[in-house]
Amino acid sequence: MYEISVLLRDVWKSYKFGSELTTVLRNVNAAFKKGEMIGIHGPSGSGKTTLLRIIAGLERPDRGDVIISGYNLNLLDEVGLSMIRNSIVSYIPQDYGLVDTLTVFENIEIPLLISGVDKVSRVKSVSEVIQYMGLKGKENLTPSHLSGGERQRVAIARALVTTPSVLLADEPTANLDWSNAIKVMELFRNVRKDFNTTIVIVTHDPRVLEFVDRSLNMVEGTLKEITPKT
Ligand SMILES: Nc1ncnc2c1ncn2[C@@H]1O[C@H](COP(=O)(O)OP(=O)(O)OP(=O)(O)O)[C@@H](O)[C@H]1O
Ligand SMILES: [Mg+2]
Repeated sequence: MYEISVLLRDVWKSYKFGSELTTVLRNVNAAFKKGEMIGIHGPSGSGKTTLLRIIAGLERPDRGDVIISGYNLNLLDEVGLSMIRNSIVSYIPQDYGLVDTLTVFENIEIPLLISGVDKVSRVKSVSEVIQYMGLKGKENLTPSHLSGGERQRVAIARALVTTPSVLLADEPTANLDWSNAIKVMELFRNVRKDFNTTIVIVTHDPRVLEFVDRSLNMVEGTLKEITPKT
């Protein structure tokens, strides 16, 4: 028996441009196991970010169920969704979403401040994740003083500080050279091994898919399984 950590059932999403309705996701179905590392591949504009934001509880689908660690997001109000975002799911945005005026330490601390964690516990958790991500010595720098690879690691650290069950990474290697991309993908592998985290990685780089357990293709708004390599 394995545990399903993300279940998508007949998920649909459209956006309105003036009077025109564009359907981005149509009948998306998927089940991701606990501790599984999933790659979602697809061209620009195919709906990858939209899907991750729906799994993260940042956007609601028009139709369909999103069930994360047993919680049906449709049944939760905004308070419930923010609880899920602060404890169960972490989303790493395509542009990292770091605050330029805050230090590395303060950026990583944000989710714990939102959750109302006390100062002693915050310092302990942030210090641990800084150590784990190899960011020791960079605590007091602001993001503009970091390399691209370091910025990505800060974004991952901020996502991990709440010890989520599900980690969603939107194009985590897009702004990195290949040697830094490999480092980031190996980091995700370590996270999966050390914490049994379910990790969903969206990418348009087929090389990234070499690092995941299972790859899915976003085709015309629907997820299709890519035939496993033989
Ligand atoms: N908030 C929004 N309002 C209106 N349209 C949107 C919104 N978000 C996304 N879209 C549209 O939905 C489609 C899919 O966008 P999405 O960002 O999910 O694609 P993507 O696969 O992540 O692309 P990329 O690889 O370029 O990041 C695009 O046509 C986009 O313009
Ligand atoms: Mg995107």
